Amino acid sequence: MRVVIQDNYEKMSKWAADYIAAKINDHKEDRPFVLGLPTGSSPIGVYKELIKMNKEGKVSFKNVVTFNMDEYLGLPREHDQSYWYFMHDNFFDHIEIPAENINILNGMTNDPEGECERYEKKIASYGGIDLFMGGIGVDGHLAFNEPYTSLTSRTGVRDLTTDTRIVNSRFFGNDPEKVPAQALSVGIGTVMDSKEVLVLISGHNKARALAATVEGGVSQKWTCSALQMHNGAIIACDEAACGELTVDTYKYFLDIERKERL
Ligand code: GLP
Repeated sequence: MRVVIQDNYEKMSKWAADYIAAKINDHKEDRPFVLGLPTGSSPIGVYKELIKMNKEGKVSFKNVVTFNMDEYLGLPREHDQSYWYFMHDNFFDHIEIPAENINILNGMTNDPEGECERYEKKIASYGGIDLFMGGIGVDGHLAFNEPYTSLTSRTGVRDLTTDTRIVNSRFFGNDPEKVPAQALSVGIGTVMDSKEVLVLISGHNKARALAATVEGGVSQKWTCSALQMHNGAIIACDEAACGELTVDTYKYFLDIERKERL
């Protein structure tokens, strides 16, 4: 696992955007580059940088196919807190990407299990995900894989914990009851099948989750810790998130990453 520590959120976002753009630009295969994407506050800085780079002609999304991590169950697309809305508002509406290349789980489906199966098959039809960018919750959930979700889980229906509904209620008028109780989400197994995983972790409130991801044992209690078993996992984080790492761990990653390599 690589852990790339940047001074602050802006630098972390810039580093991650440069990394993703380089991967897209280096992709020489005939098939499209397949990019997994998250929602939340963590990736907003990356999306802003990628939009800028797209406008400057430094990266193109014409040959990129995207798969989003998750979607609330029961929210229509046009709801301003649906992840469909979030993604278009914060990213897709501002870059040149063919609409048919965008994949987001349908939260209004009448057949949630079938929708999740379809999603897994569609990912497989492209030959899998090249790079999955993610964020994590304060309880270490990756996508909506809450603590104690199987580390081999596939795309499926997830119940949200009370804690997650409280944390996400900041987008729903601070009322946890307004946050949908369920979501559709890729599984930990789905993320682990990606060739590379890049997870953004910033801010003091994620410090425990970062320590669990990097230093704790692999455990379903912290689903993000599964990344220790991935051969191409990168954590991009800021200084504020490093507060719970041991000094040794912190120094190790600063040392090993001192010559920034892309
Ligand atoms: C939500 C999303 C996750 C996201 C997490 C962290 O619960 N389902 O995919 O990573 O929140 O969000 P934030 O980046 O806003 O802290």
